[in-house]
Amino acid sequence: MRERSSRMIEGIGVDVVEIQRLQRAIDAWGDIFLHKIFTDRELTYAHSKKNPTHHIAARFAVKEAVAKALTTGWSGGFRWKDVEVENDSSGKPSVVLYGHVRELLKGSKILVSISHSENVVVAVAVIER
Ligand SMILES: CC(C)(COP(=O)(O)OP(=O)(O)OC[C@H]1O[C@@H](n2cnc3c(N)ncnc32)[C@H](O)[C@@H]1OP(=O)(O)O)[C@@H](O)C(=O)NCCC(=O)NCCS
Repeated sequence: MRERSSRMIEGIGVDVVEIQRLQRAIDAWGDIFLHKIFTDRELTYAHSKKNPTHHIAARFAVKEAVAKALTTGWSGGFRWKDVEVENDSSGKPSVVLYGHVRELLKGSKILVSISHSENVVVAVAVIER
């Protein structure tokens, strides 16, 4: 029998990113922008795909969605690279947390989901405690 969970939803965040807008930021700021926001693992994943910008935009959306799901939002010392997206062998995304965000969310579970279209990506994050 499935174990009943006593976890409660503590926060939810959603973010939409226009892929062209993100591409313009990459064109303008290049590696400085990419390495400020994304971990090496995230960039390696994106660049292994046919349309890297879609996957970079998706990771940007996840970070924003997690920030929105946090009750403190950006004010609590959120750093871009403290939220890293990884994918399991089936492609399912999850987040690995570092730094202040990791401390803040100790004992919590973060669920994320991503969807791409030609022009936009959307990500949702749910925090369970
Ligand atoms: C998982 C699946 C539904 C994703 O569909 P999709 O239309 O390619 O998804 P989108 O383009 O909207 O979103 C892509 C994101 O889905 C997420 N994703 C991929 N595989 C996933 C999985 N197994 N579970 C949850 N999310 C998944 C990823 O985060 C991906 O973005 P990323 O690569 O940047 O991390 C599809 O690939 C799949 O494998 N479906 C299995 C069922 C099936 O065969 N359906 C076809 C019916 S005709």
